[in-house]
Amino acid sequence: MQGSGHILPNDASTPLAAATLAILRHRCDSETRNGQDHDAASTAAEPGKSGDHEGQYARTDQSVRVPYPEERDLPHSRPVQGRGGVHFKRTLSSFSLEDRVAVVTGGARGLGLVMAQALVESGADVALVDLNVEEAVRAAKELVDNFKAENPDSDKRPKVTAHFCDVSDPASVDQSLAAIVKEHGKVDNLVTSAGFTENFPAVSYPHDRMKKLWGVNVDGTYLYAVAVAKHLMERKSKGSIVCIGSMSGSIVNIPQPQAPYNASKAAVRHLVSSLAVEWASAGIRVNCISPGYMLTALTRKILDENPELQKKWTSLIPVGKMGRPEDLMGAVTFLASDASLYVTGADLRVDGAYTCT
Ligand SMILES: NC(=O)c1ccc[n+]([C@@H]2O[C@H](COP(=O)([O-])OP(=O)(O)OC[C@H]3O[C@@H](n4cnc5c(N)ncnc54)[C@H](O)[C@@H]3O)[C@@H](O)[C@H]2O)c1
Repeated sequence: MQGSGHILPNDASTPLAAATLAILRHRCDSETRNGQDHDAASTAAEPGKSGDHEGQYARTDQSVRVPYPEERDLPHSRPVQGRGGVHFKRTLSSFSLEDRVAVVTGGARGLGLVMAQALVESGADVALVDLNVEEAVRAAKELVDNFKAENPDSDKRPKVTAHFCDVSDPASVDQSLAAIVKEHGKVDNLVTSAGFTENFPAVSYPHDRMKKLWGVNVDGTYLYAVAVAKHLMERKSKGSIVCIGSMSGSIVNIPQPQAPYNASKAAVRHLVSSLAVEWASAGIRVNCISPGYMLTALTRKILDENPELQKKWTSLIPVGKMGRPEDLMGAVTFLASDASLYVTGADLRVDGAYTCT
């Protein structure tokens, strides 16, 4: 009876009193029984009291180690193929990036390469910036070849260049931007896609690796954004910067433990808000795209080696599917172009609703 709030009558000498007593006893028994079940599932009880399932679908698993391949083992990425030749489909002219120059960091591969392709197809000239400059040179050529194949009659060919840069190094950032301005004359747009992930349990994360991760994901985003903003301010020109965060900046992925990566992407998201406010009066918009699990050449390789991860990941996505790199093409074009003139400081999540649950 404790805590139920009922006081049972002892006198059941009349039929009415006996019936009332029976009903109240039944109600109290079931409340007590349910109360005990609920208590076992609450902080009143020891861990595991209500069963082994406690926290089962909401925990990292220290034993899960997603190996990030060495640079030499990383697969090549290719521009998106096969959308079938020349295409003239009506769309808003404000989505066009004609006469714009865009820089894409991490553009040699993966999401950066396909977002660069979106910018090229929308009319921009593009500078690919990457630590792996050989791969960036190859990607730049493929982007132009792909454009020619898909637009055989176009008399205007995009200019796509490749540049070495370690985005975590301020001198390297300044050198690469100077080289880009020399070749293209100006920069209007920036997409920061250089970044990486790796996972170790927090208690055993090597400190030098953590510093490297934050150096690329956080410092690299900040340094390139600031360099391009300075360039735009010197030219007294408007511009748009899109930083690639991750849904991991808003949620904690499971089962793989990756605290520093998650924190680095939360930093990118809030950096975007802060820079958007700071540079709003200069006409420089800053937005974030937070992708969910995307099937790049790299994630494909990781899943080949860890098939059980694919099931776990897709079971947690409301849409039930991982995204493809091309699912970011519209988002990056929208944010880079005048179609989003009044959008700044936003975080556009492209994650199949992962972060809604
Ligand atoms: N793939 C996904 O599922 C996913 C999901 C959410 C967010 N992201 C984010 O998207 C971005 C791109 O990821 P991806 O999957 O395309 O990775 P990726 O490894 O395929 O491509 C990243 C590129 O960045 C370059 N890079 C790494 N360090 C650099 C440095 N210091 N300076 C210059 N370039 C450097 C690499 O050489 C590579 O070309 C990352 O910031 C990542 O965190 C990816």
